[in-house]
Amino acid sequence: MNGGCIVVEQSVGLQGEVALEGAKNAVLVIMASSVLASGVTILTNVPALADVFQMKQLLEQLGAVITFDQATKTMEINTTTLNDCVVSPELMRKMRASILVAGPLLARFGRARVALPGGCLLGARPIDLHLRAFARMGVAIEVVGEYLHMNAHPLCAQTFVLEYPSVGATENMMMAAVLTQGVTRIINAAVEPEVLDLIAILRKMGARIEIEVPGTLVIEGVSVLSAVEYEIIPDRLEAGTLLIAAAVTNGHISIPDCPHTVMDVFLERLTEMGHEITLHSANKGVTLKATDVPRAVSFRTGPYPGFPTDLQAPMMVAQCLALGTSVIYETVFENRLVHTRELQKMGAQIVQDGSLIATVKGVDCLYGASVIAPDIRASAALVIAGLAAQGQTIMTGIHHFRRGYTRLEDKLCALGARIKVQE
Ligand code: EPZ
Repeated sequence: MNGGCIVVEQSVGLQGEVALEGAKNAVLVIMASSVLASGVTILTNVPALADVFQMKQLLEQLGAVITFDQATKTMEINTTTLNDCVVSPELMRKMRASILVAGPLLARFGRARVALPGGCLLGARPIDLHLRAFARMGVAIEVVGEYLHMNAHPLCAQTFVLEYPSVGATENMMMAAVLTQGVTRIINAAVEPEVLDLIAILRKMGARIEIEVPGTLVIEGVSVLSAVEYEIIPDRLEAGTLLIAAAVTNGHISIPDCPHTVMDVFLERLTEMGHEITLHSANKGVTLKATDVPRAVSFRTGPYPGFPTDLQAPMMVAQCLALGTSVIYETVFENRLVHTRELQKMGAQIVQDGSLIATVKGVDCLYGASVIAPDIRASAALVIAGLAAQGQTIMTGIHHFRRGYTRLEDKLCALGARIKVQE
C-alpha cells in the first residue's frame, strides 16, 4: 500500500485542455449521507480515488451493497440492506471522512459504534466539535476500548454554535438533524462548496434546509428521506492544483469545467502573480497563460471563501519560484507546513516561524531531489515542484497521492509533463 514512487523530470510549458474529476471532499460525505435513506442512491461523476474505495468498504461493512463502474464514474449504493452500526477501528483509521457516517447512523438507527478517525497528519484533528454537537442533540457517548458508543434517546433538535466553522462537524450535525423532529440551527456553520453540495443532495432527498447569513443552517426535521440520483460537483482543489502546475512550468492550459465562481481568492492571487487568467463563462471554465516573470504574493488560509488550506502546499511551490518574498500563514491546521522541509531539499528558500507561518524567498530554480510526501496535498505540491525543478525528483509516499487524486499523473503527462509512477 505504501510502496512505490513517482519519478518526475523537469517539464517546461504544460499546455492543452484538461477535465476535472468529481470533488473528493464532496463525494465522501455524500456517500455517507446515503445511509439516511433506505433505497438505491445513484451517484455520478464519482472519482476513482483510494478514499472513495475506503468509504465504499466502510459502507459495505455496515451492510450496504455497492457497485462502482469506474468507466462511467457511476456508483450505486443500496442501503435497504443496512444491518449494522459498527465500523471497525481499522477502517475508521484509514481516513478522516470515516467519522461522517456517525451522524447518518444516529439519525437513521439512533446509535453508532465508531472509532476515532484517521487521515492526514495535519495536527491533532480532534472531533470534539462533532461530539459536543451530538451531545447537545441528546446523544450519550461512551468510550469503550477503541470505540465510541453513541446512543440517541432520541435525537432532539437544538441550536448549536460551532466555535470554529468545522466542515466535518457541520456535515455530521446536519445529517443527524435532517430526520430529527423540530428545528435545528447550526450557527457559524462551514459553507464550503462541498458542504453546499451535501445540502443540495439532502434537499433532493426531501430534507428541509435553509441557509441564513452569516453561515447559519436551519434544518427542519422530516420523517423520511428518499434515495436519489445525484451528480458530484467538479473538484476545485484538483483545478487549483492543475493551474499551479501550469503556472510553475510557464504553461498555458484550459479547464472547461473549472468552477471558478468558488475559487475567487485563489484565482486573484494567481492574477496578482502576473499570470493571465481568462474565465470562459459566467459560471465555469478557466484558461491560465503563465507569465515568465511571476511575482511573489502572500496569503493566509482560512474557512471558505478564504484561501483554501488544501491549496496552500501547491501555492507555496509557486512562491518558491517567484520574484520577491511571500509570507504564508496557515490558519486552519496547526501542522500543515511539513512540506517545507521537503521543498528545502530541492533548494527552496523557506524560513518557518513556528508551525503556522512560512516566509518564502523566491529562487531562480529548484533542483530535483528525493522527497517524501507527508500528506495528500503535499504530495501534489512535490510533484509540481518536480515539474519545475532542474533534473529528476523521486517522491515516495504515493499512497497519499492516490488518496486525493485520480491518476493526476496521466492528466499532467497529457499536458506535456514527464512523470513515471513505479507502484
Ligand atoms: C475537511 O476536513 C476536508 N476533508 C479537509 O481536506 C479540509 O482541509 C478541511 O475540511 C478544511 O477545509 C474532508 O472533507 C474529507 P475541519 P475536516 O473540521 O472536516 C479543527 C484534504 O486534503 N477541528 O474544518 O477534518 C481541526 O483540527 C483534506 O482534502 C477541531 O478542533 O476539517 C482543524 O484545525 C485535508 N475539532 C480545523 O478545525 C473538531 O471537532 C478545521 O477542521 C473538528 C475540527
